[in-house]
Amino acid sequence: MEIKNKKILLIIGGGISAYKSLDLIRLLKKNNIQIKTILTQSGKKFVTPLSLASLSNSKAYEDIFDVNNETEIDHISLSRWADIIVVVPTTANLMSRLCSGKADDLATTVILASNKDTILIPAMNVRMWLHKATQRNKKTLLDFGYKFLGPENGEMACGEFGEGKMSSPRQIYTFLNNYFKNKNIVKKKKISALVTTGPTREYLDPVRFISNESSGKQGYEVAIALKKLGVKTTLIAGPSKINFSKDINVINVVSGEEMMNEVKNLLPVNIAVCAAAVSDFKPKVKIKSKFKKKERNLNNLYLEKNPDILEYLGKHNRLRPKILVGFSAETEKLIENSKKKIKEKYCDLIIANDVSKKDIGFNVDYNKVSIIDKKGRVENIPKNKKSFIADRIAKKIIDKFLIDDKNIN
Ligand code: PMT
Repeated sequence: MEIKNKKILLIIGGGISAYKSLDLIRLLKKNNIQIKTILTQSGKKFVTPLSLASLSNSKAYEDIFDVNNETEIDHISLSRWADIIVVVPTTANLMSRLCSGKADDLATTVILASNKDTILIPAMNVRMWLHKATQRNKKTLLDFGYKFLGPENGEMACGEFGEGKMSSPRQIYTFLNNYFKNKNIVKKKKISALVTTGPTREYLDPVRFISNESSGKQGYEVAIALKKLGVKTTLIAGPSKINFSKDINVINVVSGEEMMNEVKNLLPVNIAVCAAAVSDFKPKVKIKSKFKKKERNLNNLYLEKNPDILEYLGKHNRLRPKILVGFSAETEKLIENSKKKIKEKYCDLIIANDVSKKDIGFNVDYNKVSIIDKKGRVENIPKNKKSFIADRIAKKIIDKFLIDDKNIN
């Protein structure tokens, strides 16, 4: 079974349903899953560190400032160790703290530092769950990329009935099993992708060129995110200062024409993501030796259009990637102009980002994007690290790929 041998970090929150975490651990252990636990201060009121340690065969981590634990395994290592983080139960209070990005105990610090999916399993009184504040927090947490399981309808510990009951250990186990099964589908299907990134340089003479501010970060992060999901990914990168990880297959290019040629060489692929800021124009002629202003007539410098890679892929009759994703860099009318691009360039999704701001877009670590589909539906991803944005984009692409794939088995 796919879930076998996976590593799950369970965070035990402070609610009466915390007792169910013990059954969950037993069920997961029976299926050969490795477990580490973090017990919050309020969780400790409902279950003991000893019971967690006995069932999981591993000590329950409690304190971010515990020197012994920190030297043994720190909060970063804990979040990197896990394949997935599961919070049972997730209380209204914990939801609110996660919303504001608090890192004031081990649980919140690990979640904030994590590069893995976090599954929130809420349990609370029905009125608390339906309260506008909690529902607003849920929306924010979904925007941040957290996933929710439950709550279920039923009778709660307080005696009231309604939505608020924590999902059962069996339901949680089934959810996790499907989660890992879907990841394996991607691997089994041997999906391939190409991602373009970075600027291009269009040389006028040996030392001068037309280019732009793109650093290549956003496209690189998309390639990493697709690779993490099990997609065989090749990154075609224009000139960039990034120290690319050896895990990613990178083809370095300089000009738009070279980028186009490498894209053509890689076809067919299942997925193509064009995040590169290809220069729209290039000098018609590249002068062989350094251009001397006295010798040359400036009026003889002509520009011509570069080939449009995204459009080429979109219009390809035989080898069009199944999922074609463009980026759209705009300084005004972001959504309106990006919706036009999706039609003009025949792509399935377009990732719109505003490049007029200093803190997002070109050459910074953060971005804020809107994912737009062919039907004009818009999903906004608030400002976040480019790696986080890339995870969301990659997930969307794979979901779309799997839904569109008729041969899924
Ligand atoms: O590299 P970073 O510093 O991390 O910055 C990220 C980014 C802002 C460059 C990135 O998020 C982004 O927006 N990339 C697309 C930039 C761009 O050229 O946008 P555009 O709206 O001009 O082009 C639309 C689409 O056509 C893009 O997918 C582009 O890759 C593609 N295109 C454009 C021209 C061309 N000749 N060939 C293309 O494939």
